[in-house]
Amino acid sequence: MEIKTIMVVGAGQMGSGIAQMAAKSGYSVYLNDISRELVDKGLAGISASLDRMVKKEKISKDEKAGVLDRIQSAVTLDSAAQCDLIVEAAVEKMEVKAEIFKKLDQTTPAKAILASNTSSLPITAIAAHTGRPEKVIGMHFMNPVPVMNLVEIINGLATTPEVTEAVCKTAEAMGKTPVECRDVPGFVSNRVLMVMLNEALWELYEGVATAEGIDQIMKLGMNHPMGPLALADLIGLDTVLAILQILQEGYGDPKYRPCPLLKSYVNAGWLGKKSGKGIYNYYRS
Ligand code: CAA
Repeated sequence: MEIKTIMVVGAGQMGSGIAQMAAKSGYSVYLNDISRELVDKGLAGISASLDRMVKKEKISKDEKAGVLDRIQSAVTLDSAAQCDLIVEAAVEKMEVKAEIFKKLDQTTPAKAILASNTSSLPITAIAAHTGRPEKVIGMHFMNPVPVMNLVEIINGLATTPEVTEAVCKTAEAMGKTPVECRDVPGFVSNRVLMVMLNEALWELYEGVATAEGIDQIMKLGMNHPMGPLALADLIGLDTVLAILQILQEGYGDPKYRPCPLLKSYVNAGWLGKKSGKGIYNYYRS
């Protein structure tokens, strides 16, 4: 199972980060989204991230050009026919992922591996929308992808060891450390992380401390690189809410109930950094 060409489906912050790291590691990459504008936005994000690395002399201008050269735009899934591995990083909605995986199953060669970057949807359920559940796996990258070392590898019920091995090797080739786990709601990472972020939101809701105070306590007291509320904004409050709802449904345990403040913010369209406002303000004055 040699991986040479990779398609990333979804050119948002996660998808573009994955495409960047794959191209930086020498893979041929197709970056797909539903419109030219969305793909271009993803490419602009990659270019900005590479500029940061050039400025810090981590890569040269030529290397930056090489990375961008290895990424081709794709506004349909047709180019998946040329790919050995597809990493889906579309929105966290099962109906959207089901459609994508059905199409990928028809378009890609039988040997191709279909991975999802889902942060909490069951891999086994996604795999059931294909005729090759043994080749479906979770490849959960962390945000921001160029910086974070982990890729959480989630084995569905039918995933074969050969597929897991091929995907772990690819993650390593991308400079990441793969760590395996079973397909349970929230996997390992978000089952732990979301409880902490939600608890910080409850503290804010109850007026236990200011947002800055809560974040400072966790940064200075626990050595976390950023506070839980700033991290919730970085991940996206809509994503945090969606994951908590999956945990609540999956385990039936009230400890995962989302804080009402989180629901209000999402209803208001205050989704965090990506929308310019969340718990904090990100508007440029
Ligand atoms: N592209 C390239 N480089 C980037 C980058 C990007 N998008 N973002 C940050 N960097 C680099 C910076 O250039 C800098 O590099 P140097 O160390 O060489 O100077 C380094 O990362 C640190 O960045 P900054 O100095 O700008 O800021 P910082 O020190 O405050 O770090 C952070 C920012 C890396 C985001 C750090 O605060 C952090 O690690 N936060 C926690 C992030 C985290 O927990 N992520 C997981 C979220 S959960 C998830 O993703 C899964 C899910 O399913 C929800």
